[in-house]
Amino acid sequence: MASANDTRQAPKDAADQNFDYMFKLLIIGNSSVGKTSFLFRYADDSFTSAFVSTVGIDFKVKTVYRNEKRVKLQIWDTAGQERYRTITTAYYRGAMGFLLMYDISNQESFSAVQDWATQIKTYSWDNAQVILVGNKCDLEDDRVIPTEDGKRLADELGFEFFEASAKDNINVKQVFERLVDIICEKMNESLDASPGMASNNHKNTALNETPPAQSSSCSC
Ligand code: GTP
Ligand code: MG
Repeated sequence: MASANDTRQAPKDAADQNFDYMFKLLIIGNSSVGKTSFLFRYADDSFTSAFVSTVGIDFKVKTVYRNEKRVKLQIWDTAGQERYRTITTAYYRGAMGFLLMYDISNQESFSAVQDWATQIKTYSWDNAQVILVGNKCDLEDDRVIPTEDGKRLADELGFEFFEASAKDNINVKQVFERLVDIICEKMNESLDASPGMASNNHKNTALNETPPAQSSSCSC
């Protein structure tokens, strides 16, 4: 299990202080939907078919470039198993974006999406951005959740929607890039609506670790 100061996963990248913004992201959803696999595909471009259920919570760090800005992503991979719920929900606070994941070949994981959305509402920051991800879209023969159903539920919840596959590397990078973009859009909206926020708001310190005087706008 990792703590917030733990740099075991990617010591060099995690310790790298050279970035313009830092976004904390969380991946949530039922056990075995593919959260860890999705993160490993994105961060390490690796995949294994062995299932090692996550204990508690872990994270990886990845730096991306969006519009000439270095954005450091701290991506938390939560355990889907119910018994870890108290630990994992403690990490929702301060998260700027969520990937809420289900498995297109598993009805139960889709039925649980509403409950996961409620957890986000309960424990996270109001402005947190959410993308609903239907993972394992490579398993077309085993599909039980039509794409349309995923889309409709995402619309109802006000989330964006992607189907993806950690195994076949479909839409993995795109999902993370879209999440970064919508977080940036939200930041810009907030700054436009209340410019004073940029210099003196505790939530913004999570968005931007540069000194306040330099953070009058996000140009991601
Ligand atoms: P917890 O840690 O228990 O919450 O589960 P998890 O959501 O992290 O699931 P994990 O990534 O460990 O994946 C569960 C199983 O699904 C593993 O056997 C993976 O190999 C498999 N898997 C993950 N993503 C995909 C995918 O896109 N396609 C297919 N076919 N299998 C996948
Ligand atoms: Mg896992």
